[in-house]
Amino acid sequence: MAKPQERYVCQSCRAVSRKWAGKCDACGEWNSIVEEAATSGPPGSMAAADSNVSSLNKQPKRRGNVIDFQAMKGNLTARDRYATGIDELDRVCGGGLVPGSVLLCGGDPGIGKSTLLMQACAALTQQGHEAIYISGEEALEQLRLRAQRLGLEETGVQLATETNMRDILATLDDTNCDVPAVVVIDSIQTMWSDTLSATPGTVSQVRACAQELIRFAKKRNCAVFIVGHVTKDGQIAGPRVVEHMVDTVLYFEGDRSDRFRILRGVKNRFGATDEIGVFEMSDKGLREVRNPSEIFLDNRGKNVSGASVFAGIGGSRPVLVEIQALVAQSSLATPRRAVVGWDSARLSMVLAVLDARCGLGIGAHDVYLNVAGGLKIREPAADLAVAAALISSMSDTPLPQDSVIFGEISLSGAVRPVTQTDLRLKEAAKLGFDSAILPATKKFGKSTLKLNQVELLGDFVDQLWQNRRGGKSTE
Ligand code: TYD
Ligand code: MG
Repeated sequence: MAKPQERYVCQSCRAVSRKWAGKCDACGEWNSIVEEAATSGPPGSMAAADSNVSSLNKQPKRRGNVIDFQAMKGNLTARDRYATGIDELDRVCGGGLVPGSVLLCGGDPGIGKSTLLMQACAALTQQGHEAIYISGEEALEQLRLRAQRLGLEETGVQLATETNMRDILATLDDTNCDVPAVVVIDSIQTMWSDTLSATPGTVSQVRACAQELIRFAKKRNCAVFIVGHVTKDGQIAGPRVVEHMVDTVLYFEGDRSDRFRILRGVKNRFGATDEIGVFEMSDKGLREVRNPSEIFLDNRGKNVSGASVFAGIGGSRPVLVEIQALVAQSSLATPRRAVVGWDSARLSMVLAVLDARCGLGIGAHDVYLNVAGGLKIREPAADLAVAAALISSMSDTPLPQDSVIFGEISLSGAVRPVTQTDLRLKEAAKLGFDSAILPATKKFGKSTLKLNQVELLGDFVDQLWQNRRGGKSTE
């Protein structure tokens, strides 16, 4: 290797000279010149960057002595997806499993990850594909019991109980056999690679095992599902440590005590994110819920204050959901805030806007907010529905029964338009609602609903406050 040439660089203006001087001729700074080796800086360092600048003017030489670089354009093999036939799962994956992709399925222990993936494997084998299910958590007997309970014992899923990555990959990577359509690894926290001395479940083991599985998936063009338990203690060695390595990240949400489960796509290199799939846990495993709005609105309290119906969008699908609020007199110096299913920072913002722009004095009250059915809402479009539920509770006045609400609230107190107005209104009409409270916008088509367009939150508060029951106030 050529000896790196010495050069002197001013740390103030980056001027380069061949010899050292006490004062920089370019910027006049004293004692700013230091020696730097011209080619010895690590990539990205200033020295390396300087040498790159001059090389920009040269014609780049074709590299390829070790790595073979390829052009952007080239032959593409059509990648047919494997659709499991479980629509709620396929949609969250972007329309089925892409061969060669690695999917992470995260969630609390006991939420239903193993159940769902066993059902997905069985569905694929019923279409004639090969599916392998490797468990490091359960004994063969337990797996068979689950299969029996799910009524899937006659399907051709190949079960194995193993935790050693080397053995698993040696078996899967058998070039004499066809590549399976899907391999499930349940769970990544139980797997261990003998290249490391760390115990299974540690960050380094979880990362190393995921890396080996990803290499296998890409090399053999096989879809791999990795199960990861969300660990309560700060996500240590939980699925988050491999999120950046995999192609798709799905999280199973919901309360274990509740029968509904929501599968949410949070990252997808082969499809849209924020898509949701809704399932119901039954005695025969997970059942798809094709019309989630009906469930989230099931058992809706009639004529009660503090409840509003939000017309939301879950990925590509409209979802109507009930938002419940309770505003109560507080006896604490710092009033209590409890939020389930929504962002607590967003709630603070809505409360602050109600106080500052509408003079409601709600900030001094205890506030409880709940999204029915275990759904987590991330859309700012829910602001207006939350505000409506809060005002309804505070004034003890029910909102109109047959009305859906949506709209984003800005800090100025204006109600901002949101996307997909048409879709939200159509779903509301389909489910028998006859009016909607929405932002003032013209960007939507015809609707059969009676529309109440709101421009300012203050006007909306006035409307609701005027209707309040018997003129009662909590102030
Ligand atoms: P499981 O898939 O084992 O959860 P995970 O793999 O995420 O830890 O699901 C376990 C829970 O699901 C358990 O509490 C029992 C319940 N369950 C049913 O209610 N019905 C069923 O048919 C099955 C298989 C499980
Ligand atoms: Mg499990």
